[in-house]
Amino acid sequence: MSTISIIGSGGMAAAIASLSVKAGHTVEVMARDGAKARTLADELGAGATTRAFGAAPAGDIVILAVPYSAVLNVVRQHGEVLAGKLLVDITNPIRSDFSGFLTPEDSFGTQEIAKVAPADADIVKAFNTQNASVLAAGPIEGHPLDVFIAGDDAQAKARVSAFIESLGLRPMDVGKLFMARTLEHACMLWLGLMTHSVKHGNFSIGVSLPG
Ligand SMILES: NC(=O)c1ccc[n+]([C@@H]2O[C@H](COP(=O)([O-])OP(=O)(O)OC[C@H]3O[C@@H](n4cnc5c(N)ncnc54)[C@H](OP(=O)(O)O)[C@@H]3O)[C@@H](O)[C@H]2O)c1
Repeated sequence: MSTISIIGSGGMAAAIASLSVKAGHTVEVMARDGAKARTLADELGAGATTRAFGAAPAGDIVILAVPYSAVLNVVRQHGEVLAGKLLVDITNPIRSDFSGFLTPEDSFGTQEIAKVAPADADIVKAFNTQNASVLAAGPIEGHPLDVFIAGDDAQAKARVSAFIESLGLRPMDVGKLFMARTLEHACMLWLGLMTHSVKHGNFSIGVSLPG
């Protein structure tokens, strides 16, 4: 079992943290509002702790569970304490009116994060296509939810895959880091389905394998 550091204390932080605790991982919550971090850690129980926002995370895996509009500054603020860490980018750089992306035309969120992270930090995109409450609720009709991942470093992806699997979810590798852009567009697909077809957020995008 691992120690997982989560930066943020909102919906996604709570969903991933609670699955992590159930799986036997040790969780530490790092949020700009220390009281919110403490509340989440208390709710999680199982020895979950807090650490000051900006301090060196104890975990080798660090989940970036803040809005995209904040994440570049959050990573810059942490700076070298993230050196050598495996950063998991769960963000969706999408405008609040769903009209497009917050990233430069020739880039995507994970790439922008990689630019400001320490050079020896690994970065893997994951979890961004799963809704927080669906994630927290667990398998649908007995099938584990699919968590798509993208990244350049095979070892880092293997570690994130093992972590995802330990949570009772199915890791689905979609390729190198440039595919994180596609995963960010996949969140737009989810939002389009929610708005125009499904009409609520209680659903999951996944892969169906016949047989
Ligand atoms: N919600 C989903 O279903 C979902 C699904 C997939 C991916 N995501 C992605 O997951 C990330 C977190 O989403 P969420 O739903 O958990 O959001 P949330 O509930 O709004 O929580 C956001 C967290 O980020 C913190 N934060 C906001 N601005 C910050 C800043 N400038 N500096 C430091 N911390 C800051 C908030 O702190 P305060 O409480 O102090 O404001 C809070 O702890 C986002 O990037 C989102 O796109 C969300």
